[in-house]
Parts: sequence; C-alpha cells; structure tokens
Amino acid sequence: MPFNTELTRRLRIEVPVVQGGMQWVGYAELAAAVSNAGGLGILTALTQPTPEDLRKEIRRCRAMTKKPFGVNLTFLPSLVPPDYAAYAQVIIDEGIKIVETAGNNPGPVIAQLKEVNTIILHKCTTIRHAKSAIKLGVDFLSIDGFECAGHVGESDITNFILLSRARQELKVPFIASGGFADGQGLAAALALGAEGINMGTRFMCTVEAPIHQKVKEAIVASDEHNTSLVMRRWKNTTRLFRNKVTEEAIKVERESKTGEFSEMAPFVSGKRGREVFLNGDIDYGVWTAGQVIGLIHDIPTCADLLQRIQTEALQALDRARSFHTATAGQSKL
Ligand SMILES: Cc1cc2nc3c(=O)[nH]c(=O)nc-3n(C[C@H](O)[C@H](O)[C@H](O)COP(=O)(O)O)c2cc1C
Repeated sequence: MPFNTELTRRLRIEVPVVQGGMQWVGYAELAAAVSNAGGLGILTALTQPTPEDLRKEIRRCRAMTKKPFGVNLTFLPSLVPPDYAAYAQVIIDEGIKIVETAGNNPGPVIAQLKEVNTIILHKCTTIRHAKSAIKLGVDFLSIDGFECAGHVGESDITNFILLSRARQELKVPFIASGGFADGQGLAAALALGAEGINMGTRFMCTVEAPIHQKVKEAIVASDEHNTSLVMRRWKNTTRLFRNKVTEEAIKVERESKTGEFSEMAPFVSGKRGREVFLNGDIDYGVWTAGQVIGLIHDIPTCADLLQRIQTEALQALDRARSFHTATAGQSKL
C-alpha cells in the first residue's frame, strides 16, 4: 500500500483516486470496479429514476464489491427538483458512509447526512464556494478546475492556480479534480497540497464503464481541443465533447436575439445525451467530457488503470526527489 494520505485513511481506500459522479455512467459496474481496484467508486444517485431504484443499485453494487464505495448527489437548477431528501434517506438507510455532493444549495441535504456522520466530499469550482461548504461541515473539498468535464462554473480558473489557492486558504483537506488521467497528474496534485485526485472522463474510457464502445473510441481518437463550452449566456457554463450538436448549440447561443433558454434547450437535452451512451452515435446529442481527453489513449480495465497510475506517480515522485541535492540533513541550496 504505497499511499497514505488523509483521503486513503479516512475513506479506507488504497489508491488516492476517486471516480467522480457521472450522470448515465456512474452505475454499479463502474463504481464496483473502481473500488475493487483500490480507489473510491461512486454511484450517481440521479441516474436512478427514483430513490427506490437507487436502493436497488446500491445493493447491486454491494454484491459486486466488499470495498467502500460512495454515492454522488448533484443539485442542479430544475423546474421540478428531484426529491433529494428521499434520495439522501435511502443513502443513510443503506449504510453508505461516503457521499459526493455538487451543485447549488446543498445545505439541507448535507445537514441530513451529517446527522449520521456521513463523510462528505463536496465538489466546487471556486474558493468562495469551498469556504461556504466548509461552514456546512464537509470533510473534503473536491476542487474542480476549469479543465474539468461538466459544470465548470463562471470563473475559468485552471487547477494550477485553484489548487494552490486551496492549499493557501482552506483549513479542510482537499482533492484535485479536473484534468487528471495519469500518475504524473496524481504526483503533481500531491505536490500542490491535495490528498488525492478525482477523475471523471478517464473512467468513462475503461472496460467497465457501462457506455457504448464507440464513445470510448471517440475519446481515444480526440485531443485536448475537442471540447466546447456552452451555456455561458445563462451562467450555467458546461464543458461538452465537441460534436455537430454542440456546434449548432453554440450558434444559437451566439445568435439568439431573445436570449430565451427555450431556444437552446432542444440542443442540450439530457435525454439525447443519454442516447449517445446507449447507441454509440456520438453526434446524436450533447455529452460531457473534459480537456483531459487529450491525455487518454487507451481503454484499460479499472484495475490496470489504477495500478498504472500508482506506478507512474511513484516514478514521478522519485524523479522529482532525484533533483534534490541535499544529503543527510545538509542542503546544498
Ligand atoms: C459523462 C460525465 C457526467 C458527469 N456527471 C456529473 C454529475 O452528474 N454530477 C457531478 O457532480 N459531476 C459530474 N461529472 C463531473 C465528474 O464527476 C468530475 O468532477 C469531472 O469529470 C472531473 O473532470 P475530468 O473529467 O477532467 O476528470 C460528470 C463528468 C462526466 C465526464
């Protein structure tokens, strides 16, 4: 067990790598595979249509792994919000001890989960939001840089700045999220002050990710330029894999005279995005991916991926140490 960080100790995992919540991807197959490989797998609550379906999914995951795994709860603006309290109650009833929260106004659900001492990893894209989450009693911050897949926020601060700001400002341990795919990235995150990393896109591109093979192959074939930002006009900026639909959506966003979101809505439909993962037609709808697609060149099992990440991280840390000229307490600097 080469890694011993606040994250590995508190979560009782071996590799300081978390698989972030992913809508329509974070099912039991993936979460169990990540946990069995020594990281923290996370089920995505809202991929389940009802709280009772989440209960079944948690039980399915438990049948696939004896290791700890978590559940993601994402609070997004919605005309008819899901019954978050009921999802949280299922999480509690099923004995889940680790929850990743993300999005707006997580206070009431965090309070509900903290009553039974659930460990909360809260994902945020600014130091200001991180400080608000600390007041709610979260255990870890997951600091999501502008490189990340999905909701990037409106500040556009990349992880080189954001992680060091987290180290300077936050009194609560944090993990680094957005742009991580390999052990060199893990070593860099640890050097910047993080206790581990969170990855989304990299885990989409594994054998166990329950999405169509053509989506995984599209990620492998793309590079770091193949993402687009949409919905800035409505202050809900989202990073998506660039395809025909995102090009059309960007045109509407730029050219709409009314600025009504209803003009945009058909292009960014979540239902069509879900279809992409099922039928493998990557131009059927919009789907999320981070700039890290430029670093992804294969489709390994989660076990091989996490083993490789550990080996690379140790090599990267050794390499960095080899540049240090100090001998036995005597620095030449
Ligand atoms: C397909 C996909 C779906 C995602 N869905 C969610 C979600 O429902 N809730 C959430 O908090 N984060 C979601 N994320 C973000 C990830 O949890 C993670 O924060 C992000 O992917 C990190 O950036 P990376 O892709 O560069 O690793 C999603 C990411 C991807 C790739």
